[in-house]
Amino acid sequence: MDRLPGFRDFYPEPVPPGDNLAWSADARAHVFAAWRHTARRYGFREYDGPPVESLDLYTVKSGEEIVGQLYNFTDKGDRRVALRPEMTPTLARMVAAHERDYKKPIKWFAIPQLFRYERQQKGRLREHFQFNADILGETSVAADAELIALLIDALRALGLSATDFQVRISSRNAWQEFYQRGVVNAEAGGAGEYEFYQIIDKLERTPEDESRKKLAALGFALEAVKDFIAAAQPTLELQAVLDNLQARGLGDFVTVDYHVIRGLAYYTGVVFEAFDRQGEFRAIAGGGRYDNLVHLISGGKIQLPALGFGMGDVVLLELLKARGLLPRFSGAVAVYCLVEDETLRGDSLALVQQARDAGLAVDYPLTPTKPEKQFKRARELGVTHLVTVERNDAGEKSVRIKHVQTRAQQSVPFTAAVAALIAELPPGR
Ligand code: HAM
Repeated sequence: MDRLPGFRDFYPEPVPPGDNLAWSADARAHVFAAWRHTARRYGFREYDGPPVESLDLYTVKSGEEIVGQLYNFTDKGDRRVALRPEMTPTLARMVAAHERDYKKPIKWFAIPQLFRYERQQKGRLREHFQFNADILGETSVAADAELIALLIDALRALGLSATDFQVRISSRNAWQEFYQRGVVNAEAGGAGEYEFYQIIDKLERTPEDESRKKLAALGFALEAVKDFIAAAQPTLELQAVLDNLQARGLGDFVTVDYHVIRGLAYYTGVVFEAFDRQGEFRAIAGGGRYDNLVHLISGGKIQLPALGFGMGDVVLLELLKARGLLPRFSGAVAVYCLVEDETLRGDSLALVQQARDAGLAVDYPLTPTKPEKQFKRARELGVTHLVTVERNDAGEKSVRIKHVQTRAQQSVPFTAAVAALIAELPPGR
């Protein structure tokens, strides 16, 4: 049975070689921990929603690209459903349902697994995990800056610096003005606006002639678009975001770049994407303001300004690996309990249980095993200490504790064994 294309298996390290969709479960846990820790430092609370949603949730407003990539099907109750391709519509639905129960601004984060039926390529798979952080109920541009600071710190927490990545900030408002100033072909109207954003979004990845033709069809000259991008003149709101980040000492991490416009349809104000500085990888993260989505998803009942971003694990893990920023992972078992005398297995189990109750990571042979094999296993696990229950001629039980590296040994009464072990182990084991 083969794995489906574009999906990954996550193995404990060492990851089996020669399989580019066998990824490290340890590295993933490391990234998730940094995401969670950073979100909490910024006062964000964790939420989650269902991985399957009604298809309508996405056809309402995500934009054609994502709808074209949906994993959708009709369930056994004849409902048209889809695996979630992004978290934002779920968040908007959840908040709209219980908006009154939460004080504003709402600051929430999630780490959902998302599914998009897209062509598998470098940095793009059919599933990925995405750190989502969103603020709802705040119109001030201070919230945009706060969110971008969180994005920067989530990457800094993983060892990345301003020489590794940059957040490019831009403004849908600025582009909207540009579009409205330039609409020659009045017939294009609103439909043309979204198409125009799509062309800008793909400008850097599309041959120039193709972009020129598509823009001309909407009544725009490629040169005018390029001049606007090159001028990189910050709008007042972008300047406020820059000043805010500068005040925190995070100015080096951001730049105004009007190439960014975001493919998704619901964005309204400041938008941004994070990229590696060397331009080797696809976007690490992307987000922005979406002040009308809650209104739309609540059927016009609730008006709540919102903004957020999503940071995928795929590009990020590739980048961390390329920059040598992933730590060496081990099973982190500290202690191996040798069972050399099977008549003492019950006592050994009692010792293992007490040590685990005390928070230690302990392993032992599940079945009668030759001593050499037990030692080999302990070595493979990289334990720092070996323990063995022993009984003297008088029938008194004691525990021998051996430090694997120094070979230093001590024998302690059975009841004092766990305390003695804890005293020997470095903190955190
Ligand atoms: P997005 O730009 O579609 O935004 O995705 C955000 C990030 O998720 C991307 O920058 C990329 O790192 C990762 N990503 C997206 N698709 C894939 C894929 N097929 N394979 C691997 N990684 C992928 C959103 O999804 C918005 N809902 C984010 C947001 C939250 N906006 C406001 N709040």
